[in-house]
Amino acid sequence: MIESVIKSPVMEETAEDAALGPGEGAELAMPHESVLNTVRVTLVGRVALDADQKPCFSRSIFQVPEIDCGCNVLRDAQLQAFMNLLSVESKTEHSLEMGHYTMDEKAVAYLDGNRLFQRHASLLGSTGSGKSWLVAAILEQAAKLPSSNLIVVDLHGEYGKLTYASHLRVPGPEELGKTGDELLYLPYWLLNAEESQSMFIDRSEFTAHNQVMAFQDAVLSEKKKFLGTEGKADMLKALTLDSPIPFPFDNVVSELRRLNDEMVPGAGAREKQGLFYGQFSRLLIRLQSKRDDKRYGFLFHLPESEQTYDAMSKMVSRLMDFSRSRVRVIDFSEVPADILPIMVGLVARVVYQVQFWTEVTARKPMAIVCDEAHVYLPKKEGQNPIEQRAIENFEKIAKEGRKYGVAMVVVSQRPSDVSTTILSQCNNLLALRLTNGDDQGTVKRLMPESLAGLMDALPILDVGEVLVVGDCVLLPSRIRVNPPKEKPTSSTIAFWDEWKNAADKPDFAKAVENLRRQSRK
Ligand SMILES: Nc1ncnc2c1ncn2[C@@H]1O[C@H](COP(=O)(O)OP(=O)(O)OP(=O)(O)O)[C@@H](O)[C@H]1O
Ligand SMILES: [Mg+2]
Repeated sequence: MIESVIKSPVMEETAEDAALGPGEGAELAMPHESVLNTVRVTLVGRVALDADQKPCFSRSIFQVPEIDCGCNVLRDAQLQAFMNLLSVESKTEHSLEMGHYTMDEKAVAYLDGNRLFQRHASLLGSTGSGKSWLVAAILEQAAKLPSSNLIVVDLHGEYGKLTYASHLRVPGPEELGKTGDELLYLPYWLLNAEESQSMFIDRSEFTAHNQVMAFQDAVLSEKKKFLGTEGKADMLKALTLDSPIPFPFDNVVSELRRLNDEMVPGAGAREKQGLFYGQFSRLLIRLQSKRDDKRYGFLFHLPESEQTYDAMSKMVSRLMDFSRSRVRVIDFSEVPADILPIMVGLVARVVYQVQFWTEVTARKPMAIVCDEAHVYLPKKEGQNPIEQRAIENFEKIAKEGRKYGVAMVVVSQRPSDVSTTILSQCNNLLALRLTNGDDQGTVKRLMPESLAGLMDALPILDVGEVLVVGDCVLLPSRIRVNPPKEKPTSSTIAFWDEWKNAADKPDFAKAVENLRRQSRK
């Protein structure tokens, strides 16, 4: 594969010029300019004849060509034959049809479906370059397999209309307390110790240490009580702060309030302030305000069915049971931005942990598609504690998910803002048009050095055209992706066309009411 061509002009003397000798006929000696092309190539594989004398392509290279050896450019029929060979060889039982090669529109381009998910994939491209359509194209094919298992994190409700998927929605303020197949509550008692600390404790307060200790003690004791009343005493041995056991949040708040207001017997008949007197005032305000904030309702305002011992197994079955539906889209659009990372991370962690604790023989692989990953999987620098927790959950999946059959597909329009640890674990890179220099740099750094030159094409790719590099393709390939049959609701607005048509004005009063109510319904 040609990486670059360096042209250097060469001044040549012709034979006649030389025959005149130095000085003679100087005015006639017109040096002829020619060009010496130095071609830098990357060896990507070889085509050889197999035992049946049929040409086959292999990525292993036994012999490298000698310097200055002759070379041919594949054109027309030869190129078609080669692309066809690639197409035929990459079409296997586990291949995924993506579209056609840009080089030869007749040759169908396939990806290896096993390898695409085995070692994670990243799908990167500027806004409007065709990422969501590409995701939908992959989902559509995966959904045809009898036991495929994918979860899509949808921040804008883009995938809400796909008919082959089932849809879960984190309830907004208007829907609190309701139950329904599509409502996905994320109960506070599923948060592990670190996640709840990052939500409720302010590390900068000087009493933070005591706050953590008292909060944890109260939670643990409520979890113990809950297990007792449920007749699950056998679980007590393994109980830790991180155990996903329901407990009444209000009891924890009451206990902290008691400690905060506690007076203890002092000298004589007088009372003195208890050990933690006044230390939890701010914590109590924070707990109360989070608890009362309707936007956090999916955490705290739970219907009774979400506070039972079986609630988690029911939730997991809705998240992970492929026999119900193979693709499940979770709409996080109602989750406030400040805790979005924790909530997405929570879902990922639950999936990973359940997969981890499923018996090896019963385990079925599944993939989490993280659309708009830069929003909840940002780079390490400057993260707040909430983002850090979320990223740790995903980093664990990126590093170890492969062993337990959890794959990640990281989709982002801003790769330079996405956690480098996570991106560098993605062994398949599907790059769409990328115009920003920082983002291009990030993508180039993810490439083996020999292939970085390929990425020069990033800004000139067409919409829906993707450069695929990684072990899911035989060769780094430029592919024109087939549009999915069912399209995601695109957020691309045709401004001029919209402006051309006469239109009624929107109901602004209603929009303001929606804003107050935090719901469009
Ligand atoms: N494979 C394709 N073939 C033809 N047109 C496409 C293709 N993919 C995308 N498009 C066009 O590009 C538009 C934007 O695509 P899409 O919504 O997938 O972009 P995106 O990269 O997800 O953008 P964002 O980052 O803003 O979510 C689509 O509405 C469609 O018109
Ligand atoms: Mg999109």
